[in-house]
Formats: sequence, structure tokens, C-alpha cells
Amino acid sequence: MNVEVFLSGYNVEDADVRGRVAVVIDVLRTSSTIIHALYNGARSVVPVSDMAEAGKIAANMDPLGYQLGGERAGEPIEGYHLGNSPLEYTPDVVSGRTIILNTTNGTSAIQRCARAAHVVIGSFLNARRIVEFVRQLDVDLSIVCAGWRNRVSLEDTLCAGLILYDLWNGQEPEDRTDTAHMAFTQYRNDREDLEGAVRRSGHGKRLARLERVADVEFCIRLDALPVLPYLDENQLVLLQ
Ligand code: MLT
Repeated sequence: MNVEVFLSGYNVEDADVRGRVAVVIDVLRTSSTIIHALYNGARSVVPVSDMAEAGKIAANMDPLGYQLGGERAGEPIEGYHLGNSPLEYTPDVVSGRTIILNTTNGTSAIQRCARAAHVVIGSFLNARRIVEFVRQLDVDLSIVCAGWRNRVSLEDTLCAGLILYDLWNGQEPEDRTDTAHMAFTQYRNDREDLEGAVRRSGHGKRLARLERVADVEFCIRLDALPVLPYLDENQLVLLQ
């Protein structure tokens, strides 16, 4: 299994994922929001990358059948039902509904992976479930960290490293790529205090400034929601 890690989702091209399984990671907070919404009974999550696309999809839906969610620079989007805090996506809000999700980095990273053979959404919440799926599939793997505006996000890189550490049973192969080595090494370095590392990350501090520390605490709960969001056509559903 060939493994490549992209530390930012901004530069991922079709050739980087074609024929492979793409694991898209946006720990704070898009992946965690998607996982929690589907875990709590959302019918599906439709990732969109701009307001116009979100509005076009919503216009063709039953107003009672969907919720518009997302953020720009971490803040809720005016006129949307929900922000991008996973804690908002409770069963009474999402159950049976389609979530149209529009975020700064995470949803566009998912769209950039559309040409992959398989696209799944990973975070600390479902890391082991991701590894089980990737092992069973046994096809070449592209781990795509969403990052933040084409900068590396430490928490996404740590989650990629955790997935690789588990996949490789803690033994890094000789033929690993440089970015896979960086993610693996960063995780091995920080794994004793993963929560502290995420809290001290740029995005962790940004969310603390926005008084969203509860989101960070939720998103770091290892394997708390072992479900597998899978991109089917243009919407994410739970793979049973
Ligand atoms: C993103 O898409 O970059 C993040 O999920 C933004 C956020 O929710 O703070």
C-alpha cells in the first residue's frame, strides 16, 4: 500500500487521489462536525465550498428537510441555521435531515478529493475505524489534511500521524514519503500529551479566543464516535 500525506488540502489535484482511498482530516472542526452529525442521525452531509453553491442546493430542498451549517474564520455564517461547532449537531437538530455544510477549509478539501476511488472523513473521534477501513480496502492511500488557508494545521498532522502509527503498528516503513515521516514523527513526539498539543496549536488557540474551548475538548476524544462518513456521489453518508 503506497501512502502519501498532504499537509494542506489546498494543492491536492485529481492525480493525487485518483484510484486511491482519500482520508480527509479537519480535526478542528469540519471532520468532527460531520462525524457527530451523522452519528446523531443526519440523513447525509453535503460539503460545499461557497455560499452560492449552498444556496442553490438549499433552494431545491424541502425547508424542513435540511439545515445550513458552516463558518468563515471560525465564526457562524449569517443566515445559516448552524455554525461549525460539532456540539450544535445534536439529535433533535439533525436527525433525519440533510446538512449542507460550508466551511473555510474542510469542505473544499473534501471536494478536491472527489476523483478518489473512495473518500472517507477522519478525525481523532474515529481514527481506529479509519485504520480498520483502510487496512481492509488495501488500496493506495492519500491522507489529506485540510490545514488552514494553505498552512499546516498541527492537529490535522497529528491525526494523520496517529492513523499512520496505528496502520504501521508503530514501525515506520523504509519507503515512507517525507510528509508521511513528518506526520508519523510529530505524532510519536506528542502522543503522550495529544490534548495539550492540540490546545496549544494555532487553531486550538484561535478557537479559545472565540470562546470555543469546549469544541477542542470534544474533538480530541479518541475513538469516541467510531463511525465512517463515506462520500457517495456528492454527499457524505455513514458506511455500515
Ligand atoms: C475549517 O474548515 O477550516 C474549520 O473547520 C474551521 C473551523 O470550524 O474553525
